[in-house]
Amino acid sequence: MPPASLFLRALNREATERPPVWLMRQAGRYMASYRELKAQHGFLGLCRSPELACTVTMQPIDAFDPDAAIIFADILLPAEPMGFTVDFDPGPKIGGKVRSRSDVEALRSFDPYVKLDYLYQALRLTRAELSRRDPSKALLGFAGAPWTMACYLVEQGPFKHFQGTQVFAANEPLAAELLLDSLTDVLTTYLLAQLECGADAVQLFDSWGGNLSLEDYRRWSLPYNQRIIQAVQRTGGKIILYSSGSAHLLPALAESGADAISIDWRLPIADAQRHLRGRAAVQGNMDPTHLFRQSEDVATEVRAMIRSIPEPHGYIANLGHGILPTTPPEHVQTFIETVKEGWQR
Ligand code: CP3
Repeated sequence: MPPASLFLRALNREATERPPVWLMRQAGRYMASYRELKAQHGFLGLCRSPELACTVTMQPIDAFDPDAAIIFADILLPAEPMGFTVDFDPGPKIGGKVRSRSDVEALRSFDPYVKLDYLYQALRLTRAELSRRDPSKALLGFAGAPWTMACYLVEQGPFKHFQGTQVFAANEPLAAELLLDSLTDVLTTYLLAQLECGADAVQLFDSWGGNLSLEDYRRWSLPYNQRIIQAVQRTGGKIILYSSGSAHLLPALAESGADAISIDWRLPIADAQRHLRGRAAVQGNMDPTHLFRQSEDVATEVRAMIRSIPEPHGYIANLGHGILPTTPPEHVQTFIETVKEGWQR
C-alpha cells in the first residue's frame, strides 16, 4: 500500500475499506503528557521548538493511533512576522493596529522559511518520524483562512461573535479588501512551504466564516479561499476547507474547489454529500461536547454517524470543531476505535 493511502484516498473521493479518522486539536490540553510539557515550556515555547512541536504532534498518534497527524502550531503564528504581537493565555491576545488603509499598508509580507523556520523544521522532523514508525499516516499542515485571520487581527480580544470585523468591513471596505488580499498572499506562501516540507495535505480553518450571510461570505471569504485553494492545487497539493456553522454556505462551499469540506454537527453529513455531488470529500462532524457522554454512548453515536453516510468513499471521520480541553482521553480512544470498526451497513 502506498504511504498515507487511506487518508489520501478518501481525500481523493475514492472508496476506502473504512473511513480514515483524526481529530481537530488532537494534540493539546486534554492529554496529561501535553500539559506536562506545556508547564515547562509554555504554548509558544512548544510551537517554536521543532523537536518539542514534533513530540507534541506525535503524542496523540502514539496514544490513539489516528490516521493523520496535524502539525503542532497555531493559525496566529504568521501574524507576528506581519507586524503584530501575539500571545496566548490560553486564548489569543493580539497587539497591533488595523483601523485604516494606512495601517494595513504598513503590514509586512515575509519569507516564511526565514521568519517561521521552526515550523518548517518541525514538519521535516515529523515527516521523518512518521515515515520511520508508520508511513501510512498522513501529515497535515494548516493555516487560518483570510477572513478568520482578519477576525483576530481586527478585534485583538476579547473575542465573542466577531461582529467588529463585519463592522470594519462595512465602514472601511477598501482597507478590509487590502487586508484580506495581503493575508491571502502571505497564507498561500505559508501553506505551499508546508507542503514542500512534508505535509501530505493542508487544512484551511475558516472557523468564523459561518458568521457571515451567504452574500457576505461570497464577498469577504470565498474569493480569498478560492485563491489559496487554486494555488495549492496548481502545485499538486490537496486542501481541506473547514467551516463551522456553515449549512447556509453550502452553495458557496461547493464552489470553493477544495478537495474536502469539513463541517460541524449542525449540518448532517448526508446533506453535505448530496449538495456537493462528488465535487469534494466531506470531513466531520461529531459535536465535541458529545465526547463527554458515557463511552458506550460515544460508540453508539459514532456508529450512527458512519451509518448515515450514503457512499463508502470521500468521507473522513472527525469532530465538527476542536476537542475541548477537559475531554476524557478514553472517549477519544473510543471515538477512534469505533470509526475503525468500519462502514456500518
Ligand atoms: O489540531 C492540532 O492538534 C494542532 C494544533 C492547533 C492549535 N491551534 C494549537 C493550540 C490547531 C490546528 C489550531 C488552530 C486554531 N487556532 C484555530 C482554528 C481551529 C478552531 O478551533 O477554530 C483557531 C481559531 C486558533 C486560534 C486559537 N489558538 C485560539 C482561539 C486558542 C485558544 C483556544 C483555547 O482552547 O483556549 C488558541 C491556543 C491554542 N492553539 C492552544 C492549542 C493547543 C491552547 C494553548 C494552551 O495549551 O494553553
